[in-house]
Amino acid sequence: MYEELIFPKGFVFGAATAALQVEGDRAGRGDCIWDDYCSKPGNILDGTNVDVACDHVHRYKEDVAIMKKMGLDAYRFSISWPRIFPDDSGVPNQAGVEFYNNLIDELLKNGIEPYITLFHWELPTYIQRVGGWSNPTIADKFGDFARFVGQTYGDRVKKYITFNEPQSFLGYGYRRGSHPPSLKMTDKEYLYAIHNFFRAHGMAVRALRATVENAEIGITMSTNANYPASNSPEDIEAAKMSNLDIVNDDGFIMNIVHWCDPIYFGKYPDKAYEVFGDDMPYMSEEDSKLISEPLDFHGQNCYCSSMIKSDGKGGYEVAKRPLGSAKNSLNWPVTPEAIGSVCKILYERYGKPIYITENGICCNDWICEDGEVHDSYRVDFYHKYLKNLNEAIKDGADVRGYFAWSLMDNFEWTKGYTARFGIVYVDYDTQERIPKDSAKFYSEIIRLNKSNR
Ligand code: BGC
Repeated sequence: MYEELIFPKGFVFGAATAALQVEGDRAGRGDCIWDDYCSKPGNILDGTNVDVACDHVHRYKEDVAIMKKMGLDAYRFSISWPRIFPDDSGVPNQAGVEFYNNLIDELLKNGIEPYITLFHWELPTYIQRVGGWSNPTIADKFGDFARFVGQTYGDRVKKYITFNEPQSFLGYGYRRGSHPPSLKMTDKEYLYAIHNFFRAHGMAVRALRATVENAEIGITMSTNANYPASNSPEDIEAAKMSNLDIVNDDGFIMNIVHWCDPIYFGKYPDKAYEVFGDDMPYMSEEDSKLISEPLDFHGQNCYCSSMIKSDGKGGYEVAKRPLGSAKNSLNWPVTPEAIGSVCKILYERYGKPIYITENGICCNDWICEDGEVHDSYRVDFYHKYLKNLNEAIKDGADVRGYFAWSLMDNFEWTKGYTARFGIVYVDYDTQERIPKDSAKFYSEIIRLNKSNR
């Protein structure tokens, strides 16, 4: 049974969270832009904040025990920059430093490998006050933070992801204004902020290489993952073209090349200069070297995608999905074909091993009469996406691991606690954790994979 879900030997099965979404406990932690944002009425759908969230800071042992019971190989979590450095004095908050020490030790004791993300959107307020991503000094500051993390945890943690989804925190935060700090920049300002982010990434890679022996470093993107409407060579080519094309969608940039070419090739793609002209930032030789410091893997998150077909004239167009097609509770299309197709495109262009660092679905879950959470749609979601991913691996894409998003229900940004993405249910009143049917399914797949080795 589930033969289609038996992955190559060594494939890593994990689950992911992010600091702000699960940790709670603000004692000793400095404010971040999301704290400020939550405090303004109307910003968060249910009017909540992250003061308690899933109380992971106090319940991490229980959470690690759940991971262990599920048989997870790895846990991807992020380190909160303002929990480590609450203000700009450069003096670390010892309680925060200890929390991650304890979490890491607990994971290792239970045979679970930690994967650290350095930045999952919680920019310290003191950094935003001096311009955030618009101020080029952020690159050095982020490098300092990365060095501290490497020096402190690098004896035990070898896997690092510098950033989670720059297209989201910069696109929504600095261009669309729908996430903090609610800026609506011009193209030129926005492209410059992106350039500063790229430099910060490079500084972090250098800092981690200098402090962590045998570090494996990557970055997580959530670029387009458009998939072909059919298996015809024309549609496959059209989907690829759409993913690699650069379109100025009111300044919002989601294509693969704008975000990945600088990192892997040290330059912006030619098309970016055609589309944005003089608004493009200057890429000096020094910046090019910094930004393209070699990485060990590419992290890809997979959520929303469009179906693409050939327009019959050598171009591409969006194909209509059948009426009533599958969607999650936020109305995002469910498109398992996307996960394999994006891995093939990424691997063909950049040749880097890939980890799916997030993939998951939010559903309207509740506790059933028998006390369990029967999330059959999520079970089917994981089955379909994992199957599609495995097919891409068989077709030659070098995918090394997969992280379910999320380990547990948590604070879903502007949606507050209204959207449940977890494979473990969280009762926010009691903080009780209840593994959903999807957690049991995932665990069974992990067990089958292990017994097959
Ligand atoms: C983010 C997560 C988020 C998830 C679902 C990803 O873009 O990395 O933090 O919860 O999507 O919206």
